[in-house]
Amino acid sequence: MRHLIDRLFQGERLTRAEFQDLVLCEDQEMLELLFRRAKERTEEVFGNHVYIRGLIEISSYCKQDCFYCGLRCSNHKAQRYRLSPNEIIATCEKGYEMGFRTFVLQGGEDDYYTDDAICELIREICLSCPGSAVTLSLGEKGKRAYEAFRKAGASRYLLRHETATAEHFSRLHPPSQRLQSRMEALATLKDLGFQVGAGFMVGSPFQTAENLAEDLYFLQEFRPHMVGIGPFIPHQDTPFGKYPAGDSGQTVKMIAITRGILPGALIPATTALATLSKDARGRALQAGANVVMPNLSPEAVRVKYNLYNNKLSTGTESAQMLAALREELEGYGRKMDLSRGDSPLWKA
Ligand code: 5AD
Repeated sequence: MRHLIDRLFQGERLTRAEFQDLVLCEDQEMLELLFRRAKERTEEVFGNHVYIRGLIEISSYCKQDCFYCGLRCSNHKAQRYRLSPNEIIATCEKGYEMGFRTFVLQGGEDDYYTDDAICELIREICLSCPGSAVTLSLGEKGKRAYEAFRKAGASRYLLRHETATAEHFSRLHPPSQRLQSRMEALATLKDLGFQVGAGFMVGSPFQTAENLAEDLYFLQEFRPHMVGIGPFIPHQDTPFGKYPAGDSGQTVKMIAITRGILPGALIPATTALATLSKDARGRALQAGANVVMPNLSPEAVRVKYNLYNNKLSTGTESAQMLAALREELEGYGRKMDLSRGDSPLWKA
């Protein structure tokens, strides 16, 4: 196992079987070695900086029907809302004053916003928040739309692959959603010059160690700029409401391995992880994570963006708590960095 960890951090390519050995490793001493190496590698590339992104949840409407997600269109109990362009811009401006220089516009797949409307929004944010990065997380769209977003000034796109195994993907989504089109969308985004974020859930129903190894193998081949990894958390009004949540330790392990695969990646300590366990955000930041994404959405709509049960939206997950976040990060010996924090692998 030590040899495998050495090779991982020497930048060698690993096989699927080797990734699976890492996924299954439970030897405490080896895990501590893995976490230590991940922390060291993060510091070699990024120093002690933790990048802060302002997350704005622009719409809780979604036309997709993912079995795990509380926003799925079949969930008639979900409270739906949309922020207006003016509300979104005002939210960015407020964040800008607080010092944020990255705004992540995230939403369900909601065709209410036309591609033109999104482009207009991107342009206005770029004008009113100069020097900021606009990140989109609006699901699968066509190449034309992505191209227009890029031209309008968006520079990053988050689109988790969710699982890199087609058979597993088909157990998490209705037949209309296909892994292949997700993968094609990711490749298109990369071709268009976006900094691209992939990612997956840990502990989603039916997931095996082999599936997680495939996720890691995919990261090694595709080399995204950003990787979002969070535990699955059940939502009571979905078909997976009775499945157990993923494990926070396993999630941190996947983050640490990912840091070995992608030394320059931006890896958030996700909200789902912080929701699951109080100290997990700290553990993730000590084992390879280097991004935190506080929620800037207006208070009134936060509870409605309900991806999973008990989703955190207050405390240090809220922008008003920036001072507390700074302190928390300092407690881990880290420095809160509000700058754009582009991927070191990316040229504008
Ligand atoms: N548990 C954890 N993560 C979830 N997501 C959606 N539903 C859940 C859930 N029940 C994640 C998906 C999606 C992102 C926006 O939120 O990975 O890509």
